[in-house]
Amino acid sequence: MTTFDEILPKISAELRSPPLDEIISQLPWLVINRDLMGKVRFVLPEDVPAIMNYKDAATGLYRQVAAKIAPHAYPVDRGIIFEETRNDARHGKQESLLEGHSNVWLIDRLATECQWETISTESTGAPRIVYFSIKGGVGRSTALAASAWSFAMQGKTVLVLDLDLESPGLSSTLLSPDRQPQYGITDWLVEDLVDNGDAILNDLHATSDLAAPGKITLIPAHGREPGEYISKLGRVWMAKQSAGTAALEFWSTRLRRLVDALEKKHTPDVILIDSRAGIDEVAAACVTELGANIILLFAIDSQQTWTGYQALLRHWKQRDVIHSIRERLQLVAGLVPNDDRREEYLSELRAESHALFMDIYDEIPPGEVEGWNFEEDDETAPHAPIQIRWNRGWFGMRSLRQRMAQVDESDVKLVFGRFLDFLDSAISPDKPS
Ligand SMILES: Nc1ncnc2c1ncn2[C@@H]1O[C@H](COP(=O)(O)OP(=O)(O)OP(=O)(O)O)[C@@H](O)[C@H]1O
Ligand SMILES: [Mg+2]
Repeated sequence: MTTFDEILPKISAELRSPPLDEIISQLPWLVINRDLMGKVRFVLPEDVPAIMNYKDAATGLYRQVAAKIAPHAYPVDRGIIFEETRNDARHGKQESLLEGHSNVWLIDRLATECQWETISTESTGAPRIVYFSIKGGVGRSTALAASAWSFAMQGKTVLVLDLDLESPGLSSTLLSPDRQPQYGITDWLVEDLVDNGDAILNDLHATSDLAAPGKITLIPAHGREPGEYISKLGRVWMAKQSAGTAALEFWSTRLRRLVDALEKKHTPDVILIDSRAGIDEVAAACVTELGANIILLFAIDSQQTWTGYQALLRHWKQRDVIHSIRERLQLVAGLVPNDDRREEYLSELRAESHALFMDIYDEIPPGEVEGWNFEEDDETAPHAPIQIRWNRGWFGMRSLRQRMAQVDESDVKLVFGRFLDFLDSAISPDKPS
């Protein structure tokens, strides 16, 4: 009996052992298709002249693997599909190499469109900073508001996107009720499905009235009146059929199109993105598909946090995409106790964070020095927690906007100082920190 987690390791091992390794070495490609039920089919090339009795060999190959992974396989006659090219085998789906192989590909069909392994390249425009956490309520949105305030105080134009669509709140944080725009991101995603997105693009933003030399422009999750919010939310994830083509544009690609359009329209110096907490679909889009330059991983020292982050980093590693994202990650310690427990708390958190990142740091063989790897106590390491202190003045406020209107620099520095210094140097790397 095989359970889900054993499917891929067992397939990988089986295909590497005799006599199957011989067949695999002669195949130009093999696609493992794991369907929505968690059952596996093999998609193989139509013909491989180099292999004698090719169709029999293919059947034998599947039969042997299927026996190992039952019940996650089909009867042999339903488990094999032949296609002319690997592209035909993909059917437009995302594929990744099976760990330990160079010609065996995996297509993993999910019931959601949650594409944690689709990593887009970094944006080359205004720096995009994503605020993400596994657990909710760790001070992400408050830290984002403080960052927006701080950048605006430096005279910067800041574009803020509230992508916590399922529990929106940032707009009330930064805008007074009379400043809310008519529409929000949810409206745009729904209108875009009927090619009506452009018509509301000008009514999607509002400017914060916080006194600052710069400007904070906010794109809320919903407009002044949420309207039929639940009905809209249930549709934002829709892929769009582009006119005149069979191609589907996934919702995350549509969202990227919106962010790019907003950047063009508002020409900000920096873009701050409030992501949803947890391993969910909106978070996946924010973290991996919006071209983020800096991905802030908010953490408190809890088992839930580390287990969640570990699952995510291991997934990226297993899908062989970790190299395209790891250098954008930075751990942030939220709500750090502000009393005599602080040092001990931080050092425990740092040890957990280091253990987590060890999974994605390069292993440096003895005698070698090159590689992407950081000692536990290295302050410049992505695992080195950037602390945001718990502070009574920022706790449980009815209105963060009122709080932000009252704060002065020393007030913000006390709690967010190190964090804001990090962001300053991260978005202008040439500036000495
Ligand atoms: N530095 C801080 N010190 C004390 N309390 C804080 C601090 N930062 C945030 N809080 C409080 O913690 C709570 C959660 O903060 P916030 O809403 O910013 O977290 P979040 O991670 O965005 O939460 P969610 O997952 O719900 O979006 C709020 O009551 C907020 O006032
Ligand atoms: Mg929040």
